[in-house]
Amino acid sequence: MSTIVTLSGSPSAKSRSHGLLTRASRLLESYGITIRPFTLGDFDAEALLYGKFDDPAVIAFQKAVADAEGLIVATPVYKAAYSGALKLLLDLLPERALHHHAVLPLATGGSPSHMLAVDYALQPVLTSLKARHIVGGIYATERELTWRDDGYLELTLEIEQRLTQAVSRLLAHLPDPGQVLLHPDQLNRQIREARISF
Ligand SMILES: Cc1cc2nc3c(=O)[nH]c(=O)nc-3n(C[C@H](O)[C@H](O)[C@H](O)COP(=O)(O)O)c2cc1C
Repeated sequence: MSTIVTLSGSPSAKSRSHGLLTRASRLLESYGITIRPFTLGDFDAEALLYGKFDDPAVIAFQKAVADAEGLIVATPVYKAAYSGALKLLLDLLPERALHHHAVLPLATGGSPSHMLAVDYALQPVLTSLKARHIVGGIYATERELTWRDDGYLELTLEIEQRLTQAVSRLLAHLPDPGQVLLHPDQLNRQIREARISF
């Protein structure tokens, strides 16, 4: 079975993009995919800022990516692009780091006007890392992702369905999708039932 690295690019402790990423991860895990999760908090700020390729956490991240077949990268939209902290980390990956990876980008923003940020900002970075296949990403606004009092991130039905489809496409582009049966109704139900608390 395949392994997917997830990379959460929000500096916020309570993050919608991280919540969306977690939902996708839970779904993939239920199909036997191994998830290797990384967040910005796993790295020393100085290592990121000064591009320390020899930092132990950076090396562990590089190795995890090299060993995986897929990557999901989640980011908030900041100033019409992805987060700067995420870029610092992506800059520490070697050339061609994604050459045998299927990649799913996820982004959240305050308004629909930056829904193309993944396409015009993040996608070229993933392409420069030679991503083998980039699955059509998801952009969700704050209105489509609501925190409930119990810490559960509620997705609108449309986002839920789009996430289901995106996860299906990612699975289909892994080298070993195994015996996964991707019936959209089943996937939708599992996304709905997955619980995320902060
Ligand atoms: C510094 C900063 C810049 C932002 N710039 C934009 C922007 O250009 N366009 C937009 O739609 N939302 C913008 N937002 C709103 C965030 O994208 C939005 O709140 C997002 O859901 C945050 O994701 P997170 O909870 O994962 O951190 C900005 C927020 C911050 C803090």
